[in-house]
Amino acid sequence: MPDPPASWHQPDLAAKFLQNVRGAIPLSIEQIDMMLRMLTAARGERLENFLDLGCGDGVLSSAILDENPDARGCLVDFSEDALAAARQQLEAHTERVEFILADYAQPGWAEEVARARPFDAVVSGFAAQHSPNGRKRALFGEIFQVLKPEGIFINIEHVASATRWTESVWDDCMIDAIFGKELRASENRSRAEIAREYYARAVKEAGALAPLEVQCDWLRETGFENVDCYLKVLELAVFGGQRPAAGNF
Ligand SMILES: C[S@@+](CC[C@H](N)C(=O)[O-])C[C@H]1O[C@@H](n2cnc3c(N)ncnc32)[C@H](O)[C@@H]1O
Repeated sequence: MPDPPASWHQPDLAAKFLQNVRGAIPLSIEQIDMMLRMLTAARGERLENFLDLGCGDGVLSSAILDENPDARGCLVDFSEDALAAARQQLEAHTERVEFILADYAQPGWAEEVARARPFDAVVSGFAAQHSPNGRKRALFGEIFQVLKPEGIFINIEHVASATRWTESVWDDCMIDAIFGKELRASENRSRAEIAREYYARAVKEAGALAPLEVQCDWLRETGFENVDCYLKVLELAVFGGQRPAAGNF
């Protein structure tokens, strides 16, 4: 694979992303790198604006704004605390960002971004994965409607394993990753303790995730083209699609 874009390559930038929760996510830097590549492939130099749905502390927006000095970001979250963290993380880009408190589980959410739409890109990271299937399918349609022709939707998400066997490999990978992160932070929990907590949480969340193939079909049915999974490691996927050019839908 060719080198990532120059500014993304700076060690301090990569370190910034690894310090937060993404430090325990396998290939987290590569996921964000792939998102940036897909945005560039779809929009080239023309990335004027984007929407970050479920922005959290603004990690995805920060990468996009760093890579695209003229782009404007619209960040949506239903948590005041998340928006406050994003505001702080994006202090250097204040002029180019807008923060919106909204709940995209409610069908009317798109009205809240009416002033800023349509968008060249919609991105979402680990945010829509717990929406019930019917609501999520509808959300894909609402995202389609706020995109410009040829605009792109990139979703970085936790998806269901295809089989129980691949799920067990995924579970081991995650427990190792959390254990490794805690070791680096000099925390003293054993791998067994981490595994116990991990499985307790996994049981609670079981059945909530939709498989990747099903979600890609929802995107195609919505009207997206170039639908694909652009990067995947077990249950972590970067996938999405492009709204067709004007006249083609
Ligand atoms: C796991 S965090 C991920 C944050 C960030 N996108 C990232 O990639 O690190 C998920 C975020 O989505 C937000 N969120 C979840 N459901 C939402 C909803 N229905 N409407 C708006 N924000 C939501 C949460 O408040 C949280 O900040």
